[in-house]
Amino acid sequence: MNRRILKTAALLLLGGTLLAGCERPPMESVQHGFRGTGMVEVYNPRQLAKQDALNTAPAAPPPASADGPRAKDSFQNVKVLGDVSSAQFIGLMTAMTAWVSPKEGCAYCHNPQNFADDSKYTKTVARKMIEMTRHINGNWQSHVANTGVTCYTCHRGNPVPQQVWFTPKEQDKKADFLGDLAGQNQPGKLVGLSSLPTDPLTPFLLEDKPIRVNGPTALPSGNRASVKQAEWTYGLMTHMSNSLGVNCTYCHNTRAFQNWETSPPQRMTAYHGIRMSRDVNNAYMVPLTGTFPPERKGAGGDVAKISCATCHQGAYKPLYGFPMLKSYPELAAIVGAETATAAPATTPVVASAGAVK
Ligand code: HEC
Ligand code: HEC
Ligand code: HEC
Ligand code: HEC
Repeated sequence: MNRRILKTAALLLLGGTLLAGCERPPMESVQHGFRGTGMVEVYNPRQLAKQDALNTAPAAPPPASADGPRAKDSFQNVKVLGDVSSAQFIGLMTAMTAWVSPKEGCAYCHNPQNFADDSKYTKTVARKMIEMTRHINGNWQSHVANTGVTCYTCHRGNPVPQQVWFTPKEQDKKADFLGDLAGQNQPGKLVGLSSLPTDPLTPFLLEDKPIRVNGPTALPSGNRASVKQAEWTYGLMTHMSNSLGVNCTYCHNTRAFQNWETSPPQRMTAYHGIRMSRDVNNAYMVPLTGTFPPERKGAGGDVAKISCATCHQGAYKPLYGFPMLKSYPELAAIVGAETATAAPATTPVVASAGAVK
């Protein structure tokens, strides 16, 4: 008799422990496909409430006049924003301070004795960031549409955006006394604490490895698709779902993950988002590596990089799609001879060569 009670108590305790990692009901769900196709989004309303505060954009100031002298004529050392009016220029400086260094003020980037001086690395980085923001808004409308991005999309009042990533050092990925971990089999934060590869971003958001599960040919010759490689793809997919706060069905019909025809349109937007993140990391972040001081770099000396989470921060669209850019045309315009890397064609190509290890 006593034994039975003990056994029940133990079972209840075990159940409680197992469920402690789960989110408590009630959940909400929204159908976004034909009935019976399993295209359902499950939301936790309590997490959404938390997300709401994080995704409210600060109020925009009244627009500055676009007339009057150009910034390049009013100031001494203007290399990027030369063609905007002086009033817009100072307006943008004020906004940038609120978005990136609200506690530190103008002096975070400037020598207060001489604003034309370029001695602070933060000013050099900020200049490149203005070019990067314009490049995203001008050349990656296939992803950001007219909603666009501002410094606030990533920074949200922090000098270092809250969601950045580094490539782990080679020795961190390798063997310990338990054997070769092969860069996985440890609870990885980027992959929802699963045992998937802990760094699913380097191969896809820095390098250009194929994001595939099924091989393009039946026989193994030249076909590098394997269970091990599939895990890298699932690692990236977990990162994407977590970054946007959505389920896999937001972009896939789970009847056939691979099939583009039956996937919701969001998958195409995500396809461009992968290429955009890769482009921005290689064209803007990596070239800044030497500009950043050692304390800003990763263990392997690499620069902080951009992922889906850097902009999205848990929302299906950053700031729930609030078109903040409209109030800051200086960051939308591609003034002068900005180097433009065209966005790729819209049809996804099935690549097979050079898969991850
Ligand atoms: C996040 C970094 C950052 C912050 C914060 C910042 N600036 Fe700037 N500032 C820049 C950059 C970058 C340039 C150069 C722009 C260019 O080359 O087109 C610049 C240039 C200037 C210039 C032109 C100087 C010259 O003669 O060449 C002035 C004036 C200026 N900023 C004023 C301000 C004021 C006032 C504030 C505070 C309200 C401020 N800035 C905050 C990054 C910053
Ligand atoms: C797509 C995301 C993104 C956007 C948009 C963006 N940044 Fe950044 N920014 C980053 C990342 C990532 C870093 C690297 C973090 C670090 O400093 O280690 C960074 C670093 C910086 C730094 C250096 C901070 C430090 O303390 O090291 C400055 C200054 C900066 N950004 C200014 C700007 C300004 C100004 C804008 C808008 C014109 C802007 N950023 C837009 C992602 C972004
Ligand atoms: C935000 C959109 C998005 C979400 C969410 C998403 N995926 Fe994907 N998925 C994509 C895109 C885009 C590709 C194609 C990537 C490419 O080719 O560059 C892809 C590719 C895949 C593939 C490879 C198919 C092939 O051709 O071999 C699988 C499998 C997959 N996803 C599974 C998942 C799973 C499982 C989840 C949930 C954990 C998920 N995806 C969440 C957008 C998404
Ligand atoms: C530079 C900032 C930035 C980065 C980085 C970024 N996104 Fe986005 N994304 C946006 C913006 C802005 C929108 C809103 C576009 C619009 O209004 O249609 C968006 C929209 C989307 C949408 C469409 C949502 C919908 O309901 O229509 C998907 C899906 C998406 N992003 C996936 C991704 C994935 C996956 C990644 C990483 C591989 C990524 N994004 C990286 C800025 C970004």
